[in-house]
Amino acid sequence: MPAIVLIGAQWGDEGKGKVTDLLGERVDYVVRYQGGNNAGHTVVTPDGQKYALHLLPSGVLTPGCVPVIGNGVVVDPKVLLSELDGLAERGVDATRLLISTDAHLIMPHHRALDRVVERYLGSSRIGTTGRGIGPAYGDKIARMGIRVQDLLDPGIFRKKLELVLREKNQILFKVYNRKPIDVDAVVEEYLGYAERLRPYIADTRLILGKALEADKTVLLEGAQATLLDVDHGTYPFVTSSNPTAGGACVGSGVPPTRINQVIAVAKAYTTRVGSGPFPTELFDANGQHLLKVGGEYGTTTGRERRCGWFDAVVARYAARVNGVTDFVVTKLDVLSGLEKVPICVAYEIDGERVDEMPMTQTAFHHAKPIYEELPGWDEDISKCRTEAELPENARRYIERIEELSGARVSAVGVGPGRDENVVRHPLL
Ligand code: GDP
Ligand code: IMO
Ligand code: MG
Repeated sequence: MPAIVLIGAQWGDEGKGKVTDLLGERVDYVVRYQGGNNAGHTVVTPDGQKYALHLLPSGVLTPGCVPVIGNGVVVDPKVLLSELDGLAERGVDATRLLISTDAHLIMPHHRALDRVVERYLGSSRIGTTGRGIGPAYGDKIARMGIRVQDLLDPGIFRKKLELVLREKNQILFKVYNRKPIDVDAVVEEYLGYAERLRPYIADTRLILGKALEADKTVLLEGAQATLLDVDHGTYPFVTSSNPTAGGACVGSGVPPTRINQVIAVAKAYTTRVGSGPFPTELFDANGQHLLKVGGEYGTTTGRERRCGWFDAVVARYAARVNGVTDFVVTKLDVLSGLEKVPICVAYEIDGERVDEMPMTQTAFHHAKPIYEELPGWDEDISKCRTEAELPENARRYIERIEELSGARVSAVGVGPGRDENVVRHPLL
């Protein structure tokens, strides 16, 4: 049976959590393959309960579905344990969780460095979530990282921590004038977490490989999104991992030949949190409509999201880079009540029309959207469940997105709930 990848097509917060949850009943494993608790995935279950997940895959809310934290994730153990406790308090059983031995740990020096480096960058800051993501991945690539498996060997854990803090404490103290971090305190804290995490730690690569051989279905749930990808996104205004479909193989150990479907989630408009170029960003009443009606406030940091029109150049790019087979377009309901719903079809860059993602970041910073204006609709569409029930202009809007984006639109979100969708083609 197949492995399916689910990714964000824009700059994050497209509704990946909702769509993953929607598929939860039809899959056996849901795997996070990159990122960490910089993610915030909101799920509203059929009983109206709202959950904000940061590290746990959204499949955790479906009984029977096994949630997996893959090797490509960076894990802050304190956050993970408090997320598990929070779910347990609400009666959600997450004891099926599996955590890869090879996932890297977010350490106190990562969080400290994330914050001081952002402050140091001043107006050039990236606007990170401050969760230590960049420094943790930096240490991983520099081969100074501490992994989940090191929690199982106290001697090794201490040795690695001493080594890495020898350098990081110099940096914290001498460059940034911060207090050095105490090795003993961190060892004590983290070995405490080790006791609680031990039952979940597993060879997830092997388990997923065997599951696929046994005809199970594995859903690889991306965090962040295509344009936040460290290789394919708007560098340097990106996260430090590979949210794109290729990253799903690296971050889980599931081979590319097993993947036969890539679902991209895109909002019916665009949002972005943090700094960086955003050609269709709005600073007018329409932007306020999207912010207020869409409730565009970050799930992780509570920051206001920047809002703008749908960008078909971005969607086409996401379709190409990820090999998208199906788009799910979310939050179409938020556009109700707008007189016009423009779609960006191309850019004008230094006087020339450009139809695809520009080759350089400088050009992308200069990109001005070329819009095609579609007529809006007034009706509340949140009760629509079939395409025929949608107002004609809403239908035309989705059809135009499909034509411009290079893959079929299989489902359309009309509300945050699990069943608030118009399904055009069954997803699985
Ligand atoms: P993620 O990070 O991609 O999982 O997305 P977030 O959870 O950060 O943000 C998406 C927000 O939109 C959440 O509050 C969802 O509950 C909500 N949402 C998802 N799909 C829809 C939809 O079709 N309509 C509406 N109105 N809200 C949606
Ligand atoms: P989900 O999974 C939206 C953004 C941050 C910042 C940049 C780098 O909910 O879609 P980082 O802390 O990762 O080093 O920050 O990436 N960012 C997100 N924006 N949704 C997310 O996750 C994000 N995760 C990181 O705002 O601009
Ligand atoms: Mg989010």
